[in-house]
Amino acid sequence: MDAISVIASARKNGNCKQIVDKITEGIIENGGKNTIYFIEDLNIKGCQGCRRCKDLSNPTKCVINDDFLMIMDKVEKSDAFIFAAPNYFGEINAQGHLFMDRFYSMTKTTPNQLNGKIKAVIIHTYGAKNGFYDDYINKRARLFNSIGLDVVEVLSVGNNEPSKSGDNKILKKAKETGLNL
Ligand SMILES: Cc1cc2nc3c(=O)[nH]c(=O)nc-3n(C[C@H](O)[C@H](O)[C@H](O)COP(=O)(O)O)c2cc1C
Repeated sequence: MDAISVIASARKNGNCKQIVDKITEGIIENGGKNTIYFIEDLNIKGCQGCRRCKDLSNPTKCVINDDFLMIMDKVEKSDAFIFAAPNYFGEINAQGHLFMDRFYSMTKTTPNQLNGKIKAVIIHTYGAKNGFYDDYINKRARLFNSIGLDVVEVLSVGNNEPSKSGDNKILKKAKETGLNL
């Protein structure tokens, strides 16, 4: 099991990272590995809306050759993709949106859609009560399916956990998620 993780929070030991770390524990216990990237540390430009990726008579990956392509090339060769983003003002934060907008170059109307065999785990953390953003994040998770990932788990984690109290239920669920990948 080879996994690639992308964290949209800039906080190096924030809620997203702690949950990803627990998933990693599960992956390692099963003999796999997980490589973690923070969007904040990468060189990624916003989608230019040029629609070059939609020109099927002249197929290409996204023409912006930056770390988005580097990551998605690694994802294509992996077994699982883990994406963790915090909620800022009701939505996935800006770094998360920057990354996800580039999925435009990988939908079914491009030559770049993934083959449906790579599992995806989506994590969304927030301060509101647990469950508050379930509908929102489940809708956003569909975008991951649209680029040919197989979303197997959506973890919607409120109350500023696990930092606030180190909630064991959440961490246990995260570890199980890693073990089941
Ligand atoms: C700029 C900013 C805006 C936020 N807006 C919201 C919000 O609208 N709703 C909410 O429930 N939590 C909000 N939060 C709280 C974060 O979503 C929450 O603490 C999250 O778990 C942080 O994840 P991290 O520790 O991985 O960065 C906000 C935090 C920041 C810094």
